[in-house]
Amino acid sequence: MATNIPFSDATMYTEADLYDVMSNAMEKDFAGRAGQVADLVRRARPHSRTLLDIACGTGEHAEYLSEVHGFEVDGIDLSPEMLAKARARCPRGRFEVADMTRFHLGRCYDGVICMSGSIAYTVTLPRLREVLACMRDHLAPGGVVVIQPYRTPDTVPPAGTREYSFESGGLRVKRIRRSEIDGQRHWVSYHYIIEGAGGTREVDEVDEMGLFTVDDMLAAFSAVGLAATYDPTWSAKEVQAAFRWRRPGPAGEALTAPGCPEARRV
Ligand SMILES: C[S@@+](CC[C@H](N)C(=O)[O-])C[C@H]1O[C@@H](n2cnc3c(N)ncnc32)[C@H](O)[C@@H]1O
Repeated sequence: MATNIPFSDATMYTEADLYDVMSNAMEKDFAGRAGQVADLVRRARPHSRTLLDIACGTGEHAEYLSEVHGFEVDGIDLSPEMLAKARARCPRGRFEVADMTRFHLGRCYDGVICMSGSIAYTVTLPRLREVLACMRDHLAPGGVVVIQPYRTPDTVPPAGTREYSFESGGLRVKRIRRSEIDGQRHWVSYHYIIEGAGGTREVDEVDEMGLFTVDDMLAAFSAVGLAATYDPTWSAKEVQAAFRWRRPGPAGEALTAPGCPEARRV
C-alpha cells in the first residue's frame, strides 16, 4: 500500500528518557506485569532462575523481575539508548544490542519474554516465525516463553490523528499520533514537542507494526514446533494477553537444544 505516512529509516526508540516519561504518564503497570510473568514462568518451571527479555527497552520489567522476583535477567534490544538505561537499572544482567529476528547468544534461559507488544515489530508472519524460532533456540528444555502481544486486526483503534499532552519528570510533552492500517500492517507516526528546562525541541518517529490474529500467532508457534496457549484474561487492566509454551522435553532427561550449549538436566 502507498501509505501517506513517510517511511523513515530513523531509529525508533532513540529517545529513551522520553519512553520512560511516557510510560510514567500512562501509568504502565510494570510491577504488576512483572509479577504475572514471574508467576507464569515459575508455574511452568518451578525452579526457574534465568530470564531473557527480548526487546527489553529501558529494562523496567527486567528490574522488577530481578529485584523483586529474584531472577537473573538478560536482555536484547535494537536501541543502544534504551539498553543503556536497562543496564543502569539491572547492573547484574547482560544487555546486548541485537535484532530479535536473528540473534544467537549461545545461552539458554528458563524463560524468554517479550513485553508491551514489542513482538509487533516483526511486522510480517515470516519474520514472526523467525523470532519465535530464535526464542525457541534460547529456551531451556521445559522452559516457558511469555509474549504480551500487540493489537489484533479486530482490536486496533481506527486509523486517524490524535493528540495527547502529558507532564512527567520535569518535561511537558505534546504528542501528535497519526496512524494508518492496511490489513495486517499498522503504521504509526509520532510528532513530539518536548518542553523542558533546556528549552523546546521536536522529535519525529515512525513505527511499522504487524497486526497478527490470535490464530496467526498460534499457527506461527506451531510452525516452529512450540505448543502455545492463549490466555485472554492475563492482563485485565490493559486487556492484553499472554502466549506461553513449553519446549517439549521429558523431565529428568539431559537434552541438547540447537544453539544451546548450556542445555542441562531438568
Ligand atoms: C514498546 S517498546 C517495549 C520495551 C519493553 N519491552 C517494555 O515493555 O517497556 C519496544 C522496544 O522494541 C525494540 N525493538 C524494535 N524492533 C526490534 C528488533 N527488531 N529487535 C530488537 N528490539 C527491537 C525497540 O527498540 C523498543 O525498545
